[in-house]
Amino acid sequence: MVSQPRLLRAVAAEVLLDVENGDSLSQCLPPALSRLAPEQRPQLQAICYGTCRWFHRLDGELRQRLKKPLRKPDRIIHHLMLVALFQLRYSEQATYAVLNESVEACRTLDKPHLTGLVNGVLRAAEREGTPETKDESSRFSHPQWMIEKLRHNWPEHWQAVLEANNIQAPMTLRVNARRFSREHYLDLLAEAGIGARPTRFAPMGIQLERPAPVDQLPWFADGAVSVQDEAAQLCTTLLDLKPGQRVLDACAAPGGKTCAILESQPELAEVVAVDESAERLPRIQENLDRLDLDATLQEADAADIDQWWDGQGFDRILLDVPCSATGVIRRHPDIKLLRRESDIAPLAGIQLGLLDAMWRILKPGGRLVYATCSVFPQENHRIIQRFLKQQDQASLVPIQAPWGLELQAGRQLLPAPDSHDGFFYAVLEKPET
Ligand SMILES: C[S@@+](CC[C@H](N)C(=O)[O-])C[C@H]1O[C@@H](n2cnc3c(N)ncnc32)[C@H](O)[C@@H]1O
Repeated sequence: MVSQPRLLRAVAAEVLLDVENGDSLSQCLPPALSRLAPEQRPQLQAICYGTCRWFHRLDGELRQRLKKPLRKPDRIIHHLMLVALFQLRYSEQATYAVLNESVEACRTLDKPHLTGLVNGVLRAAEREGTPETKDESSRFSHPQWMIEKLRHNWPEHWQAVLEANNIQAPMTLRVNARRFSREHYLDLLAEAGIGARPTRFAPMGIQLERPAPVDQLPWFADGAVSVQDEAAQLCTTLLDLKPGQRVLDACAAPGGKTCAILESQPELAEVVAVDESAERLPRIQENLDRLDLDATLQEADAADIDQWWDGQGFDRILLDVPCSATGVIRRHPDIKLLRRESDIAPLAGIQLGLLDAMWRILKPGGRLVYATCSVFPQENHRIIQRFLKQQDQASLVPIQAPWGLELQAGRQLLPAPDSHDGFFYAVLEKPET
């Protein structure tokens, strides 16, 4: 395969157009990567993630520079220019290469009539630098509805959240407690020349100084560690797992938390992992295999308990519901383009429905941990408050912890630069009788 800079740009523009049309980067990047020479693939990934991260800022500038929007059939060229602007503003790429290759890529995309426009816009952008703007969406590089919702929900924290969302997340590992102590694995990393430190709150977490390919991590293929953010790791600690318990991970794929549960308590009676996605379920098995762990997998809508439940209650349930994922924007910047304000209410309906159903299969005396990677109260403590109104038997267990913000119901972590993602947790218990 020939390494062609203009093909890289054309493919990046196509990926971004797909994201604008509703596909996630994790859906549209893999086929795009396979169209390029191996040495170009990391660059495509960096361009697509970076352009999504700064989309609202770059798009604000580009719209200012264009006298009128491009016609719909030429929309791809808008994205080609966003890619170029991303490189001009946020990369080390030489300016002449950005300009020349973008003009060439216009031809690759079969739009030779727009080479003059691309050349003119990019030359002006290069000459004039980033224009001043009062527009909040450009300034914070987020959709306006998200900025307003965050400001309303977190009057003291909204700016810090927006800023944290624009900073690339660190790479964090969870040491497999069945294989190594955290201290021992830190020593192995030091021997391998990989800078790292223990996470502050999760007992088995290690944060790397710089992201590293997993095949460079000591004993990765043999199950020594998994990649998992510190906030996600905290879910397991809240379950208070004991030998002999039957545990349900209700929305389990790709199985990060299923494996963490099994690692932290080797003497559980059984762990059942349910996910409705046939596509994602095999990822749980892959993780279990690598870590040499066992769980019972079920492909099902967890809320439809008649379809999959065997009638035996669970001592512990982890309910890591589908959510807006607004706590992990720094890892998935395409969320800024994909999520709509109108998604939140239907998600809240699904979340409450799942919580109601899971409550029914929790044993008396059992514990349920509700978790999201969202920063919107509508999906978090308000769900718990709505649930508690309907279920006066349920008791809310306060989470006493040195991390996060205590809410009327549950605890919230907001994303923190060089530390954990944004996450919400609530612990509910069912009375013995
Ligand atoms: C936040 S992710 C779970 C991440 C996982 N707990 C982990 O730590 O690796 C949410 C998962 O819920 C699944 N899901 C969504 N609705 C579901 C439902 N009604 N029943 C079961 N799984 C569902 C999705 O397929 C997705 O894999």
